Amino acid sequence: MKDAVSLIGAVHTGRIHDSATKHVTGKADFTDDIALPDGALHAYLGVSDVAHARLIGIDLSQVRAAPGVVGVLTAADIPGANDISPTNLNDEPVFPTETIQFHGQPLFAVIAETRDLARRAAELAKVDHEPLPHALDPIAAQEAGYPYVTAPLTLTRGAVTPAQDAAPHRIRGRMHVGGQDHMYLEGQIAFAIPGEDDDVIVHCSTQHPSEAQHMVAHVLGVPSNAVVVNVRRMGGGFGGKESQMNLFCVVAALAAKKWNRAVKIRPDRDQDMTATGKRHDFVIDYDVAFDGTGRILAVEGDFAARCGFSADLSGPVTDRALFHADNAYFYPNVRLQSHPMKTNTVSNTAFRGFGGPQGVIAAERMIEEIAYALGQDPLDIRKANFYGPDGRDVTPYHQTVEDNILERLVSELEQGAEYRRRRQDILAFNRTSPVLKKGIALTPVKFGISFTATWYNQAGALVHVYNDGSIHLNHGGTEMGQGLNTKVAQVVAEAFQVDFERIKITRTTTEKVPNTSATAASSGSDLNGMAALDAVEQIKARLIHFAAEKWDVAADSVVFKPNEVHVGREVMSFDAFIRQAYMARVQLSAAGFYKTPKIHWDRARGQGRPFYYFAYGAACSEVVIDTLTGEYRVERSDILHDVGLSLNPALDKGQVEGAFIQGMGWLTTEELWWDDAGRLRTHAPSTYKIPLASDRPRIFNVKLADWSENRELTIKRSKAVGEPPFMLGISVFEALSMAVASVTDYRECPRLDAPATPERILMAVARLQGGC
Ligand code: MTE
Ligand code: MOS
Repeated sequence: MKDAVSLIGAVHTGRIHDSATKHVTGKADFTDDIALPDGALHAYLGVSDVAHARLIGIDLSQVRAAPGVVGVLTAADIPGANDISPTNLNDEPVFPTETIQFHGQPLFAVIAETRDLARRAAELAKVDHEPLPHALDPIAAQEAGYPYVTAPLTLTRGAVTPAQDAAPHRIRGRMHVGGQDHMYLEGQIAFAIPGEDDDVIVHCSTQHPSEAQHMVAHVLGVPSNAVVVNVRRMGGGFGGKESQMNLFCVVAALAAKKWNRAVKIRPDRDQDMTATGKRHDFVIDYDVAFDGTGRILAVEGDFAARCGFSADLSGPVTDRALFHADNAYFYPNVRLQSHPMKTNTVSNTAFRGFGGPQGVIAAERMIEEIAYALGQDPLDIRKANFYGPDGRDVTPYHQTVEDNILERLVSELEQGAEYRRRRQDILAFNRTSPVLKKGIALTPVKFGISFTATWYNQAGALVHVYNDGSIHLNHGGTEMGQGLNTKVAQVVAEAFQVDFERIKITRTTTEKVPNTSATAASSGSDLNGMAALDAVEQIKARLIHFAAEKWDVAADSVVFKPNEVHVGREVMSFDAFIRQAYMARVQLSAAGFYKTPKIHWDRARGQGRPFYYFAYGAACSEVVIDTLTGEYRVERSDILHDVGLSLNPALDKGQVEGAFIQGMGWLTTEELWWDDAGRLRTHAPSTYKIPLASDRPRIFNVKLADWSENRELTIKRSKAVGEPPFMLGISVFEALSMAVASVTDYRECPRLDAPATPERILMAVARLQGGC
């Protein structure tokens, strides 16, 4: 065993999250905890109460006259561009000037002495508008002839039509898959402090500080170098703070510059839920052709998504849905098409999995269809279609699957969870239990790691060693609870062979590392861990050169040992060694950089290698439903998940557990519901139900595949973990489906839509029993 493993800070050890104690004792600073300077003001958004209309004018006189109001910010107050779209489509104004595009769209901001006064005043505006017809969902949008909000994607391989014509079996179906609110504990927030000249500093809760900086500069009409964006940590992001924070940063900065006072904006939960985008809901039309053994011969899929009024990240999200519509399965002939529909709803955005889960659930539905049609165990159909050798290893986007470990992973879970025996027990139970019915399902996941926008796969870091031997670490990633800072600090501690405590983790700031990518696509530790390691290696190379020269030894006689440096026979503490290097004028600071190798993607042709590697996992869930009420409970879930050689098994396990539960919530109780007027009626925890501690599986066994190692040269051979286990929640959905199917003796695959709320379960049971 390496010396390093005995070190407290070393990688591959299950260290506690660096802020865990601070989180639970309330000592961790969030944006809202930053002390306000004298004269600070508060902003609140005034929003539309119509889904689609021509905007004629806004009478703000009562708003301006309200107590405590300092002023109102409208589109006319924007010195630069009235645009915060994260794409080059320029289709998302800060405040609209001609057309209202969704119910709850921000139209102006009130600036007042207190948040409460700003919030009350925002209600007093009189908006003059002329209503236009609206389309709220992708089907209505298609019927109304609405355009795509961004360019669609097609993936094709093989000859679909001949394969369909020759196939012994063919099933077509449609599935509705709901969206999801991010429900981060800390809502959106931004706090801007004006400086001299063009300068402004924005503290906020964003996954993408560089984009927030760029947006603020763009809207203020100043260069990016005038704007600093700082993020110490987020109380959760889950993709909801990748682009959605831009609006809040921009409003705070505009007001701060206009009134030359610090300005904070923090919407309440209802406004946070109505004014910011969510996971895309999809309507998926599938057509699967297969043979008598359950092997898939051809797949066609149409993926229509509710994108909302602007593109935002809908392009890459709907692309990723197609990239995952194969999940773990080989499609010999395939045609997949995305339909990113414009709708008169809030613009949907990134959410853990980034469209991938909507693709995976389509693949799993097709598998279930085949299993029910042939009267077989769905697990056998899954296995029959896994990627494998003999030419069965090419994805619909023409990337070869080189690192497939699903066969081993799934059979280990199958044994460990005693799937076969329990399935027999459940079949027996269902035969004799009239009201309660059980279901079990074992579903795999294969998830592609890398941003599909290739240029995002880069990162920077800045490491300083001070002359007392303490180390300051900064990188371009952001901390949202996932433990990124802990992991990167572990990498640095191991590389220097020092205690973890010696590393000071600092806030993410655009001042230290420029042009960063969003902390997203699960790539935070892959990218920033490597960039930080590059910085450390540069400093170490200088130190080794210095020591070899000074003590006149070969470079390989300079060795970093736990908290010591050995130079030939000389042994020094790390501190003493650094002090000597400083006195000899060795540069003790370095900027590191990393870009992911091997990846390329030609979107127009739908071919390439968009992913550096794949992360794998599988889950087996057992549920029980009450066929009289539709209520259900998850009795047990067993998970085996692949994180390569884990950087931190404790944090990774936490990510797997959290992602599974969040995925389960998406597919069970979290329901977004808009009324006919386009008003989101589930806009608070009172009406939008996320899983509680009491909803967790009664038995919950979570294991990492500790034998797995990334075959690519990722940071310490680890794999990304943030998003892939989200899709393990699909096992709960398919188990519910089996329980429903039992009422007609599994003769039919239930057409269960997601989320499978108790109401939907009840309706699905009734539909089967009614024979309709
Ligand atoms: N874990 C916590 N606790 N909070 C979060 O907001 N976001 C998820 C995941 N895990 C999230 C989380 C999402 S959507 C992503 S993309 C990754 O973390 C981002 O961080 P990483 O790239 O460092 O894994
Ligand atoms: Mo995660 S949806 O990529 O922020």
